[in-house]
Amino acid sequence: MPYALIGGTGVEHFTLTEQRVITVETPYGTVEPVVGNLANRELVFMSRHGRDHATPPHLVNYRANIWALRKLGVQKIIATAAVGSLSPSFRLGELVLLDQFLDFTKSRPQTFYEGGKQGVLHVDMTEPYCSAVRQVIMDASEHLGFAVKNGACYVCTEGPRFETPAEIRMFQRLGADLVGMTSVPEVVLARELGMCYASIGMVTNEAAGIATHPLTHAEVTESMKIPGVKVAQLIQETFEL
Ligand code: HPA
Repeated sequence: MPYALIGGTGVEHFTLTEQRVITVETPYGTVEPVVGNLANRELVFMSRHGRDHATPPHLVNYRANIWALRKLGVQKIIATAAVGSLSPSFRLGELVLLDQFLDFTKSRPQTFYEGGKQGVLHVDMTEPYCSAVRQVIMDASEHLGFAVKNGACYVCTEGPRFETPAEIRMFQRLGADLVGMTSVPEVVLARELGMCYASIGMVTNEAAGIATHPLTHAEVTESMKIPGVKVAQLIQETFEL
């Protein structure tokens, strides 16, 4: 099963034909992804936060999720991520393919290689997000006539709280375009296992301090409704190519 989709906030469900829930045991815990078909290809769908958004970003079992996908033979992963925008170049509702990240997470296991029997690996992060899969997504967006931006620097915060305006100003100075809470360590772990990983950011809000009102999770999920439909079409088209 070469392809997987990891659905973030607002993409907790994804309808596949002939879908069934399977149980996959991993050294990090048990995972229950959905397997089915999309555009005549077999696909694994994994809801990052669980099917009822019950797991916050800092408690997602990223290692179990990625290990399970590898065990199922997945080679290519497309993920979705709700993001706040730090720049007027990335507007509400836009779809953006990430190409770099800044890691400001604090408490998450980041590697499968913890020394001893597992050994040590310093995985290359020159190109964290797979350019080949990004190109297929760009081709699909052209077929559909959707504007998708290719390339943005994502800063990953620990959460689950939103950022302070001072943090957002700091991240802007460091070169971040978008902010979210989940792409690290997911992309790192996928790279460690040699999988090609791309992430579609969906801009749900202006980051703290740029927005003139306090941020809420309800705003993020509400803002996902329109890009959520677009992203589903984009993924379907990507799998047709
Ligand atoms: N900050 C962090 N994570 C997010 C945001 C944000 O503004 N929007 C969506 N996910």
